[in-house]
Amino acid sequence: MKEITIQAPATVANLVCGFDVLGMALEQPYDKMTVRLLDKPEVIITSLDGFPLPTDPALNTAGAPLLAMLEEPDLPGGPVGFEVLISKQIKPGSGIGSSAASAAGAVVAANHLLGNIFSKEDQVRFALFGEKVASGVKHADNIAPCIYGGITLIRSIFPLDIISIPAPPLHVTVVHPQIEVRTSDARQILRKEVLLKDAIRQWGNIGGLVAGFIKSDYELIGRSLEDVIIEPVRSMLIPGFDEVKQQCKEAGALGGGISGSGPSIFMLSKDAVTARRVEQVMKAIYERIGLAYHTYVTVVNQEGVKIVSSQ
Ligand code: HSE
Repeated sequence: MKEITIQAPATVANLVCGFDVLGMALEQPYDKMTVRLLDKPEVIITSLDGFPLPTDPALNTAGAPLLAMLEEPDLPGGPVGFEVLISKQIKPGSGIGSSAASAAGAVVAANHLLGNIFSKEDQVRFALFGEKVASGVKHADNIAPCIYGGITLIRSIFPLDIISIPAPPLHVTVVHPQIEVRTSDARQILRKEVLLKDAIRQWGNIGGLVAGFIKSDYELIGRSLEDVIIEPVRSMLIPGFDEVKQQCKEAGALGGGISGSGPSIFMLSKDAVTARRVEQVMKAIYERIGLAYHTYVTVVNQEGVKIVSSQ
């Protein structure tokens, strides 16, 4: 195999209460990437759709993980490298895992070209170098669901401990108000200390959310989608946030909040009809505010990065 084309899904990190520890993969949107095997130890990055991506691989979210992979002592055969052609559908700075899609997509594709020598956990370990480039921090709550599919809990980063969480069918509505929030900025503004009473409420919600997923208890999922630590600070960066949240719940959504570090907002619903109604609510709010937006109505992606073709 010399060339492979994959689709890398968007992801919703945090799932409201689980800052840096919970994430979910989406069916839509996704990035498309083609990775070619080279016979020299180098990484070449090409943007196919005019997105101004850094071409220095060390500064690129797809390139940095591949450089890390090439450092591994046990690579088979002679010298290898990779050429990566990226067609981005997930806008950088949108809050639905753009950098993770590039990093995870590149790693999964490269691993296939090398004959599947790395475990999923190893692939997450490499892809984290991309998040480091993007936000300065290795957080796996986008990378893990992008590679594993479904909903994942990152119990620990060092050492990596990733748990896939089963869940009942969930419909996801996302609105992306067309402003850019850089993850590094959205992390900078967070308080470094947390009150014990807030921590207690937060870990109650995380436990409740995970239990709700496993027990297919939609009511429990809805009640647990509450964030008393991060959302009060970050929501100030997102015009219309409080209104969207309140009106979407009135329209029947189970709940939701900021997707990753924003500005996208996501809502979970039990069925497709409600998810569409929620979309209309989001559209009406941003039409009235006069801010351009993009919406997605989708479901949870169970597969993670998907191979489209290889040759
Ligand atoms: N957990 C990260 C954050 C996700 O909220 O900063 C960024 O997409």
